[in-house]
Amino acid sequence: LVLGIDSSTQSTKALLVDAATGEVVEERRAAHPDGTEVDPRAWLAAVDEAAGPLLERAEAVAVGGQQHGMVLLDGAGEVVRPALLWNDTRSAPQAATLIEEQGGAEASVGELGSLLVASFTSSKLRWVRDEEPEAAERARSVLLPHDYVSLHLAAPGTEPFTDRGDASGTGYYSTAAEAWRPELAEAAIGRSLDLPRLPGAPQEVMARTAGGAVLAAGTGDNMGAALGLGQQPGDVSISIGTSGVCAMVSDVRPDDPSGTVTGFADATGRFLPMTTTINASRILEAGRALLGVTHEQLSALALASVPGAHGVSLLPYFEGERTPNRPDARGTLTGLTTSTTREDLARAYVEALLCSLADGVAALEQVTGVSPARVTLIGGGARSRAVQELAPAVLGRPVTLAPDGEYVALGAARQAAWALAGTDEPPVWELGGARTLEAEATREVLDAYRALKERTEGWG
Ligand code: XUL
Repeated sequence: LVLGIDSSTQSTKALLVDAATGEVVEERRAAHPDGTEVDPRAWLAAVDEAAGPLLERAEAVAVGGQQHGMVLLDGAGEVVRPALLWNDTRSAPQAATLIEEQGGAEASVGELGSLLVASFTSSKLRWVRDEEPEAAERARSVLLPHDYVSLHLAAPGTEPFTDRGDASGTGYYSTAAEAWRPELAEAAIGRSLDLPRLPGAPQEVMARTAGGAVLAAGTGDNMGAALGLGQQPGDVSISIGTSGVCAMVSDVRPDDPSGTVTGFADATGRFLPMTTTINASRILEAGRALLGVTHEQLSALALASVPGAHGVSLLPYFEGERTPNRPDARGTLTGLTTSTTREDLARAYVEALLCSLADGVAALEQVTGVSPARVTLIGGGARSRAVQELAPAVLGRPVTLAPDGEYVALGAARQAAWALAGTDEPPVWELGGARTLEAEATREVLDAYRALKERTEGWG
């Protein structure tokens, strides 16, 4: 048996999995404080609660975690200040400054693989230097959330370690050189910092737990999900959660100075180009609330209208947007007539969500030059009946609906099984219960959305 842990923004999930088949034997979870700035010790308590009772049954363990978070430690390994997480945007000006210092977007992305934004760890280091110089002075090392959790599970005296996938979201790891750029971390915070060890190969055994189980490198949550889904090069996953993430496993190192596609490394030695929107399942929630209906009723209303919702189009940038980069935008609804119905409005909301994801897939295709082989839907929003029925039409291709599952924790478990086996390739685990969704393409829906997007350029 192997244990996969997902230390996410809101909670910790632990899956005990059969290493040979991928079958989940037991699942436990624990909540921990949510937010944008959190004492990282709270994650350890949640890991103890969720994974503690499963640990001694596992031969190998790995941890997936929220990407980018800054865990700053002093010389004694104590937390210097609460961790600043991926969703904390205070360091946006610092990200812009760092890009400038690195010679502009093209040079910076050429080295890092991604355009620096407030999510990235290095911008948070600079924020600490600017705003909390005493904390910067005390800092001796910086870890990512999953590294901090792995270290907690490791036998005493273990040196911190990470993996190349999560490292590629720091802003001081070069996906071009496949190595840390410690001088970039130093330039960000103004002093030299110890960085965690990187594995030589993705299946390397990095350490042992106190009980003697193998500890694999772990990885960022998005890389973990790709591994859990068993994505092959060219496969795209679309995760509809709080954020909408489109991710492609790719042999091509992505390089997009516009910042639309982040060029992360994955957990298998390949790359994981990704787009991330900040409005995803909340679009469905907003439509549901506006119409005063349940999610099931929203689906029924949407499916009772027609493709294009009789001319009603919605740009769903309710909370500003990151892809496209319109941080101050608000939603825009057009095409209303005196005949517009509740059905049309429901349809416009669902189509808007799918169009924004279709744009993400198109951006991945453009940056990698690879046409998606298979597109798989995951996440809470994928449970919507209207999303399931309309996704293949709006995306213009068949879509695989993955069964409900904890794919980050499953991916971590798969990495643990891989480290345990020491084989060249990860174990093959069949994903039972996936369904293929098909429908006739409705190209005009996406065209109308893109026209509206163009018309509103510069509105905010
Ligand atoms: C990716 C990102 C999020 C977090 C969520 O760039 O910021 O998907 O990894 O945990």
